[in-house]
Amino acid sequence: MINLVQVGYGYWGANVARNAAASKLINLVALSDVRKARLDAAKNLLNGDIAYTADYAPYIDDPSVDAFALCIQTEPSFEAAKKILNAGKHLFIEKPMATTYERALELKELAEAKGLTLHCDHIMVYHPIIRAIKRMIDAGELGELVYFDISRMNLGPIRMDVNAMLDLAVHDLAIIDYLSGGRAPYHLEAIGKKHYGAKETLTYLTMKYPGFIAHIKSSWISPIKERRVMIGGTKKMAIFDDMRTVDKLTIYDQGIEPLEKGEDYGAYEFKSRLGDITIPYIASEDALRNSLEHFAQCIEQGVPSLSGGEQACKVVKILDAARARLATQNGPNDERNYAQ
Ligand SMILES: NC(=O)c1ccc[n+]([C@@H]2O[C@H](COP(=O)([O-])OP(=O)(O)OC[C@H]3O[C@@H](n4cnc5c(N)ncnc54)[C@H](O)[C@@H]3O)[C@@H](O)[C@H]2O)c1
Repeated sequence: MINLVQVGYGYWGANVARNAAASKLINLVALSDVRKARLDAAKNLLNGDIAYTADYAPYIDDPSVDAFALCIQTEPSFEAAKKILNAGKHLFIEKPMATTYERALELKELAEAKGLTLHCDHIMVYHPIIRAIKRMIDAGELGELVYFDISRMNLGPIRMDVNAMLDLAVHDLAIIDYLSGGRAPYHLEAIGKKHYGAKETLTYLTMKYPGFIAHIKSSWISPIKERRVMIGGTKKMAIFDDMRTVDKLTIYDQGIEPLEKGEDYGAYEFKSRLGDITIPYIASEDALRNSLEHFAQCIEQGVPSLSGGEQACKVVKILDAARARLATQNGPNDERNYAQ
């Protein structure tokens, strides 16, 4: 069991604390938030012998504390993360690990130099359905990967420190990294719309990876909530619809088959192959609980996290490249009329 201090009890931190307090692998020693009202709310909801504090600094030097969970906004979490790692504590950090690749790399290298577990909360990597899809892909059931088509949309919440892509596509890039066995894109396009405020509230990210292409839609300005991952393989296709309460994963034994070209009219070179549509049973598990417990197990076993510094750096590096593409669209070269 690890002794954990959590920093930040906002919208997402409340979920982290609930799971940390309920886990048999974690002893939530203290919970910190600068807002008293948040600490008061936590006291009413959490059980256990937890200290509540506005200032987590004394715990950084407490030898009985093994690890920290940082659940504050992305921008300020960088300096806090460095302090925590420099003090020799393992770190669970909320996604995205940092606002830039340079910063993400600094955290990764610091954790490695200190021999510490760094775990970024790429929660979808710990989702039972993503794990089931991973087993299918690794067993060759889907065939070769052809495409990922992913949409993560909702009405808000609008964040001030990052754009919709940094907030949402981070999950999808981690999913693709995990499911494709660490493949990285070699071509990338991104467009976005700053609809409210200074950051893009809607982005489309399109990439070419070795063997497949990927399209990721991230939106804070959608009238409906959608969390959908569609994966096309040469043998089968899969749709993971996380908005469904049950039957979230559907496997389509369908595809396009090449045919011998015949002499007669109507003999086509390709035909659609229509087969069974199945809904596999997958036991429900809490992805956030899995993520936290994976972190605790990595500390105890001294092994790197699946969503550790390496994956988090890759994800942030792609997001940096995508942000650079978005920035080029605000200049004079973007003013072209393709219809003329
Ligand atoms: N993994 C996921 O699926 C997921 C989902 C949503 C959000 N997040 C991430 O969680 C993080 C927090 O997001 P949020 O929406 O909960 O933000 P939030 O603003 O609601 O919460 C942040 C909390 O941190 C507190 N805080 C700030 N500085 C502090 C400090 N120095 N000491 C103690 N407390 C401090 C604030 O008072 C606030 O209560 C972000 O990085 C976000 O990207 C992750």
